[in-house]
Amino acid sequence: MVEGWLFLCISGNMLQGKKIVLGITGSIAAYKSCLIIRQLIKKGAEVQVVITPAGKEFITPITLSALTSKPVISDFFSQRDGTWHSHVDLGLWADAMLIAPATASTIGKMAHGVADNMLITTYLSMKAPVFIAPAMDLDMYAHPSTQQNLQTLQGYGNHIIEPGTGFLASKLEGKGRMEEPENIVACLENFFSQQKSMQGKKVLITAGPTYEKIDPVRFIGNYSSGKMGFALANECANRGAEVELVCGPVSAAMQVTHPHILRIDVESAKEMYDACMSLYPSMDSAILCAAVADYAPETVAEQKMKRTGEDLVIRLKPNPDIAASLGAIKQDGQTLVGFALETNDEETNAQAKLKKKNFDFIVLNSLKDEGAGFRTDTNKITILTADGKKEYPLKMKAEVAKDIVDALERKGVR
Ligand code: PMT
Repeated sequence: MVEGWLFLCISGNMLQGKKIVLGITGSIAAYKSCLIIRQLIKKGAEVQVVITPAGKEFITPITLSALTSKPVISDFFSQRDGTWHSHVDLGLWADAMLIAPATASTIGKMAHGVADNMLITTYLSMKAPVFIAPAMDLDMYAHPSTQQNLQTLQGYGNHIIEPGTGFLASKLEGKGRMEEPENIVACLENFFSQQKSMQGKKVLITAGPTYEKIDPVRFIGNYSSGKMGFALANECANRGAEVELVCGPVSAAMQVTHPHILRIDVESAKEMYDACMSLYPSMDSAILCAAVADYAPETVAEQKMKRTGEDLVIRLKPNPDIAASLGAIKQDGQTLVGFALETNDEETNAQAKLKKKNFDFIVLNSLKDEGAGFRTDTNKITILTADGKKEYPLKMKAEVAKDIVDALERKGVR
């Protein structure tokens, strides 16, 4: 099952003045969206409803517009006067988009970009964070395709409000049933309170592999997908930080959608080094998640190398150690976080890197742990400081990123 949102009690009114696009889809739980609207408005938010054609079978636009004091948007054009409804403008207007209830069909369309109604086009144009409250029966929710789609959406930085996990939810309530309106609203409040925690901070994050050219068609690389680094970038941006994401060659599926993330694409360790060295002096923190090649071919053949039948020897030279170089120029008040990917003697090796590279703390992940490390949607980490450590269970990378950024904000673990 996808990891759900943690419900926290928030003091203060985090929703005052916030602009929320509420997407409603064709589920029996659509009536609960009225309760969500009432609570959002009571807390000072402005709500614009976008409803799918199926959603209108479950609740009338008249009820919704009476509650929000705004016309409900469901079609690309207004039936009455032909006015164009701009999903792009909605994407820029909103502070958050909440899709509640979200059916399996809408979740599938969102995951695959099937833009056949106003709600999906609005979602695809959305510049603000997106929250999804699934609503369906348990079998549909547990089906691998639904779980895969939810994981895809989580990977895009969307927040899944997993059903039946809230503090107000009864233990008997099954997963699949939409989370209670008060818990959904609490998620938004929680998000906006966290968002403030890194407001004004600048964070450099490295992600993905590096490729070291052998000739025009071959390179030395590694299996890093960029998932862990992108999850960290999303988490910092969601908390209000400005993120510079320096990433090696990751797949086209790895996309940045958050407006606070500036993506800088590089290929080799040398290019990553140059980008990081010029950025770090103006950053508050750096999290070095990239799997950087330690060696590169001494020379790069100009033409494609031909097969000769003889043994081939490629001489390698060491690449710059980005982490150690940043550690050497780190100033008071700056934080530097590293990763250690190990296969053996994990803690000893990680402690050595912590010291050598002048990290404030290091995130250890071991290839011995199933579901940890390269390419997986999950990771299992231990955070090590000079005088302590904290082990975490296997979690989705989006949740692991929260633990790491919590530690960053505390400058270590307790
Ligand atoms: O991208 P994913 O598929 O999601 O996988 C995530 C990950 C496994 C790549 C990630 O969790 C991780 O462990 N990243 C660090 C991998 C690594 O190169 O570890 P290392 O132990 O070799 O390096 C130690 C630290 O020095 C790392 O912070 C690394 O970024 C940094 N380094 C290493 C070499 C170098 N030349 N320059 C560096 O900055």
